[in-house]
Amino acid sequence: MGRDAFRLPRAVYAGYVPKSADEFPEGFFERLDPSPDADFYVNPRLVAHIDEATIDALTQAYRELLPAGGSVLDLMSSWISHLPEEARYERVAGLGMNALELDENPRLNERVVKDLNVDPSLPFEDESFDSVVNAVSIQYLTRPVEVFAEICRVLRPGGIHIVATSHRMFPTKAIRAWHVLQPQDRIRWIQRYFELAGGFLPAESLDRSPASGTDPLWLVVGRKPAESGAPLAAEK
Ligand SMILES: C[S@@+](CC[C@H](N)C(=O)[O-])C[C@H]1O[C@@H](n2cnc3c(N)ncnc32)[C@H](O)[C@@H]1O
Repeated sequence: MGRDAFRLPRAVYAGYVPKSADEFPEGFFERLDPSPDADFYVNPRLVAHIDEATIDALTQAYRELLPAGGSVLDLMSSWISHLPEEARYERVAGLGMNALELDENPRLNERVVKDLNVDPSLPFEDESFDSVVNAVSIQYLTRPVEVFAEICRVLRPGGIHIVATSHRMFPTKAIRAWHVLQPQDRIRWIQRYFELAGGFLPAESLDRSPASGTDPLWLVVGRKPAESGAPLAAEK
């Protein structure tokens, strides 16, 4: 399919609100390149995916939001996790598609290569992390609601999930919705992923973009309730 045919009008997805995880609009998660992600990520890319000022803004957000000393899961990780250099964490696990990229990441003390579009389950114990971060990669997930439900499972009560997004993408591997939607719509959809997964408090969005002329930075931040007891139900 050509890129023009791939780009549906924005209105198809912008105003649509699915009532359940089974009701996403048709074609939302399709990609120009439907071949296995393992093929696309076979060679390491030891590059920065956002400008230096945007990385600094993300690191500052992590400094403010991630509990010091806790356990961190860096999902869709590579050779750089953007965590504050001075911060010490009990555990930093990284999950991504390329073993060499993960090996080059000095912040990780656990590394898992796994394609979440094939199997969205996370190979970690229940309630084993204080924070889960996902930097500039949410547009590559084709089963995000299942992944978010897993994130909720592995987070401890009171834990935080931060999704950081900007405006760049590997176009052939990003879901169709990301080609069509404006940033504000994308943020709303990420909030919807949290809602449909269930178990999170309402997710907030934060614009942490540095000065103009650099890559923007938008965060969507969801927390698991601190109180133990019955988790919040997924919306039906
Ligand atoms: C744009 S890079 C971002 C890497 C890193 N988070 C950063 O901030 O530089 C996208 C990352 O998403 C990961 N990724 C893409 N598709 C994936 C999938 N199906 N399952 C797990 N990880 C995936 C890749 O390993 C790749 O490193």
